[in-house]
Amino acid sequence: MTTTVFDDVHEVAHVRIAQHAKLVVIAPATANLLAKAANGLADDLLTSTLLMSRAPVVFAPAMHTEMWNHPATQQNVATLRARGLLVIEPATGRLTGADSGQGRLPEPAALAEVCEAVLDRGTGVADLAGKNVLISAGGTREPLDPVRFLGNRSSGRQGWALAAAAVARGAVVQVVAANVELADPAGATVVKVGTSEELHKAILERASGADVVVMAAAVADFRPTEVSVGKIKKTDDQSVPQLELVRTVDVLAELGANKGEGPLLVGFAAETVEPGPNLLELASAKLAAKGADLVVANSVGVDRGFENSYNAVTIVSENGVERDVASTSKAGVANAVWDVVLQHLPRAGD
Ligand code: CTP
Repeated sequence: MTTTVFDDVHEVAHVRIAQHAKLVVIAPATANLLAKAANGLADDLLTSTLLMSRAPVVFAPAMHTEMWNHPATQQNVATLRARGLLVIEPATGRLTGADSGQGRLPEPAALAEVCEAVLDRGTGVADLAGKNVLISAGGTREPLDPVRFLGNRSSGRQGWALAAAAVARGAVVQVVAANVELADPAGATVVKVGTSEELHKAILERASGADVVVMAAAVADFRPTEVSVGKIKKTDDQSVPQLELVRTVDVLAELGANKGEGPLLVGFAAETVEPGPNLLELASAKLAAKGADLVVANSVGVDRGFENSYNAVTIVSENGVERDVASTSKAGVANAVWDVVLQHLPRAGD
């Protein structure tokens, strides 16, 4: 059964729905709906509810590229954003019919992550609007031969949560993703890489245009000196291959060494020690060694940190502990990181 604004008039459905909502999500938001919302039209239950609600609003537009790029739509989007409402950039890919381009609705799970970030903060205020954010996520893989690699257990979830929270706060977000098997984050541009060398190149190409670089990826510190062209075979004499490794570039340290007027630098320190003084000491040492402005230290072990979605962290700067975040959702950790980042933007001395 469809509920309309004119059913059960005495119950004023749009008032009841609007007053109960903690968050309003419109997905997909058509060009027509964006136009109505921008102009405050209220000629059906949805638009009446929208006008009535004081909850944060998330629009996830979906339409053909031409309609999205039309000056009328872009003006409506600008009006909604100026009013403090969140309009997520549509994804790029296959559209309805044979066409491709920007205009796709992001995957529901990715949209839900942006909504979680808004709900976690309890406000949709776009305090990162106008900021360009570059995030590395996932874990690099260094090939040994065509079928094997040296890798790590990073799932990319924390980087994804950081991207979702930055989108939820109105930033322009680029993610350099190393081997992440999750649906692309909503509202962000994703650059896919495999090895530490590819990640290094992708980050360097984009860092100078960013206000903040957050290195959440687990980047390999070593890679095989040579990659075997064919699969490395067992031999009959029971011997094992001796792997020779070389150091990779430390991307964060390189950015830190050339900081100048560059972006605010945020590193992650995954350490196998319990939270406490030891973790703080390791994080502060990493901050200094890499020239980062902030380091987000987390304690990782077999059963925490990497693959699960809860993550307690300590955020440090050269002044010591900026924020201790008790075990919370990855959205909570991500919002805490952006809160501290905002306190440090623009970087002292800029
Ligand atoms: N990092 C990087 N380039 C590398 C290795 C790490 O940019 N080649 C970044 C990570 O993205 C992270 C920070 O440096 O933001 C710290 O990474 P971590 O793995 O905790 O420390 P490492 O520098 O690798 O030191 P160690 O493994 O000895 O603890």
